[in-house]
Amino acid sequence: MGIKEELSKIAEEMRGELQQACDLQSLEQLKVRVLGKKGSLTALLRGMGSVPPEERPKIGQIINEHREALTAMLESKRDELARREKEARLKAEAIDITEPRDLPGVGGVHPNSRVLNEVLDCFTGMGFEVVEGPEVELDHYNFELLNLPKNHPARDAQDTFYVDDNMVMRTHTSPVQARVMLSRKPPIRVVCPGRVFRADEIDATHSPVFHQIEGLVIDENVSMADLKGTLDAFAKKLYGADIETRFRPSFFPFTEPSAEVDLTCFNCRGKGCRMCKGTGFIEVLGCGMVNPKVLSMCGIDPEKYSGFAFGIGLERITMLRYGITDMRLMYEGDLRFLKQFR
Ligand code: PHE
Repeated sequence: MGIKEELSKIAEEMRGELQQACDLQSLEQLKVRVLGKKGSLTALLRGMGSVPPEERPKIGQIINEHREALTAMLESKRDELARREKEARLKAEAIDITEPRDLPGVGGVHPNSRVLNEVLDCFTGMGFEVVEGPEVELDHYNFELLNLPKNHPARDAQDTFYVDDNMVMRTHTSPVQARVMLSRKPPIRVVCPGRVFRADEIDATHSPVFHQIEGLVIDENVSMADLKGTLDAFAKKLYGADIETRFRPSFFPFTEPSAEVDLTCFNCRGKGCRMCKGTGFIEVLGCGMVNPKVLSMCGIDPEKYSGFAFGIGLERITMLRYGITDMRLMYEGDLRFLKQFR
């Protein structure tokens, strides 16, 4: 067999094997078998000795051409195999980002926030707007404008944290009333939730920091009946149609007349239980008709307008709502407590 025939035979075999080669390793072996030191093509080159000298350049050229062609074939096959192997690997290593996993612990809404949201929903549903005021408050708003001048005995009832002579940690949310009246014109209908501060000893029912929700309505011809109707609607919406309000006369310098409001005990529904100490009622808020003196100090004409205000103690209704017997639980951040409200 002449060299040319051998060459085409080698090329033919290589084509066949290339087609079958299915991984880089078998491709490497094929390369060694043909082009390696002991490869078939290399053997042909070694056999040049038996070729007549005048034909050697020609034959040598043909062999080199084959060598280049075969090398090119090998390389393109190698590229193809490498690409396919990479694709297969990427596919095998693909991460399914939609696969469900164990989730980190999910938090819950604090019971106080839950009840606050319900209360605010109830009032915004009746057309009230939610407004907030500062926690560090001027004495002027916290006391003076609310008809509690310096040396007024009622100031003692609120154990105030003073920041300096003119500034306090607000002792109630009522200063927001004054701010709203000074900055808006009637009709006014707002609820003002927020933290308040009093120098109380900490125990099961007292905390130096707690929350109130203030309400204020000012318009022409607003009466005590509107106050009662509003609070009735609030109580029924929050706790059910069988809940009633009971007004008891009381005193606040900024309202006249003033009342404290009890709701039918939502634990026993009025029958009398430990929670309501057998009375069937639970005290939840203070309220009254805005004192005309306060109206005029805050720039509203008491001849033309009247209004009512109320202040709900948030912690109290949260505790009663969930049967929480110690207020401290609500501030300590103990997960065993909080997890019950997920
Ligand atoms: N601010 C009063 C308190 O802290 C509650 C209250 C608000 C009373 C509005 C009447 C009107 O106890």
